[in-house]
Amino acid sequence: MIIKSTDPKSSDKLENIVIIGNGGRENALAWAIQKNELIKKIYVLPGNAGSKKINKSARLSLDLNNIEELIKKLKYLKIDLVVIGPETPLAKGLGDVLRKNNFNVFGPGPDGAKLESSKSWAKEFMKGAKIPTANFWKVKSLEEAKEIIFTSPNPLVVKADGLASGKGVFVPETKEESLKATEEIFKGKFGNAGEIVVLEEKIEGPEVSVFALCDGRKYVLLPTAQDHKRLNDKDEGPNTGGMGAYSPTPLITKPILERIIKEIIEPTIDALLRKNIDYRGVLYFGLMITKSGPKVIEYNCRFGDPECQTIMPLMDKDFVFLLQKCALGKLIGNETIEMSDKFSGCVIATSKGYPLDYKIGFPINFGNIDLEDCQIFDSGTSLNSNGKVITDGGRVLSIVCQGKNFDTVFEKAYKNLKEISFEGIFYRKDIGHQVRKNNQLKNN
Ligand code: AMP
Ligand code: GLY
Repeated sequence: MIIKSTDPKSSDKLENIVIIGNGGRENALAWAIQKNELIKKIYVLPGNAGSKKINKSARLSLDLNNIEELIKKLKYLKIDLVVIGPETPLAKGLGDVLRKNNFNVFGPGPDGAKLESSKSWAKEFMKGAKIPTANFWKVKSLEEAKEIIFTSPNPLVVKADGLASGKGVFVPETKEESLKATEEIFKGKFGNAGEIVVLEEKIEGPEVSVFALCDGRKYVLLPTAQDHKRLNDKDEGPNTGGMGAYSPTPLITKPILERIIKEIIEPTIDALLRKNIDYRGVLYFGLMITKSGPKVIEYNCRFGDPECQTIMPLMDKDFVFLLQKCALGKLIGNETIEMSDKFSGCVIATSKGYPLDYKIGFPINFGNIDLEDCQIFDSGTSLNSNGKVITDGGRVLSIVCQGKNFDTVFEKAYKNLKEISFEGIFYRKDIGHQVRKNNQLKNN
């Protein structure tokens, strides 16, 4: 990547960074940031077992709800930039609290995070700004929902309004299924997140992820990506947080990207500005490329996981300046990211049973891993009392590789996966099937 812009002024010191979060996304961000020689220390709060593989890094153990202690510690550590990874602290307002205490923060306030934390708010936002998205109804009772579900020509998608760790969306085959899902949400399946339900017209097309780094007014686009949300090969099984990804996606051709910019990205940033929302962070557009053009399926106020792990190796050492510029409100707007000529792909190794119930605490064994153009980012890992890396989440490891074409990328990723073992390890065998010529990889 080449950032064609002047680097931040020397007065904008950038030595000590804290990254908040404990997943593969934060591990990949730390890895990309440590490449910059100006950075002296990267603190991850709380990080995971993978943090120790990051140069210049240290883990912090602090309670994010104890704001006084947090601020005291960050001041003591002379933190120049805070990068907030996950949606929950963003939705709770951590970004603004830290900004009020004079920290430079990459991550929107709770007003901007509402794009993710309230689906009904996001849908009304899109409607107001004429941003293409599926038609919707916001409902507060089962009776109201029943009427809409049974008078609609087709079964409607059902969504809990609030944050539900990616589990709050139900895509039905029949109207009865829509009703059942609505009933479950109103009965409290997702707690407060389900006090309001959004019913949505079902739309069709491939899904892509687009990320805009935003400083409140201006933005820079990262390479596009395609996630694999379903658990099993052939895109079957339940929705997950993401089982793998690749970047860039050829689905976003130049003309489609131009439409996405004109019809979705710029109207979103303009509408945020009209609402006086100073959005400093990443705007994640989950899009569907339908027959009538790109439409927004969802917004997120953070980097996608595993898209982030996939994209970070394509960035050069100046990537961190972009985060700083967003936090400072100092993007020039003409920063262009020139992709390296490489492609990147990621396969997630999960615990058996994910995304439902799974066990943790199994030792992870690494064999002969080829680390040339490959990274193993830790998603859900920790260290046991003997210092051994053990599983500590549903998504355990992100195996990421780069190459001149996607066949090479995924051959390397799957070869490395064969060298990794833990009890119950599970992963999809067909990540990147959309872009691999050699679809059935040998020896998988
Ligand atoms: P979300 O959490 O909003 O991204 O939704 C999870 C998944 O549900 C998406 O990735 C889509 O595959 C699917 N989905 C969400 N909304 C719709 C819709 N209106 N029509 C069809 N599929 C949808
Ligand atoms: N990979 C999808 C997400 O992060 O929500």
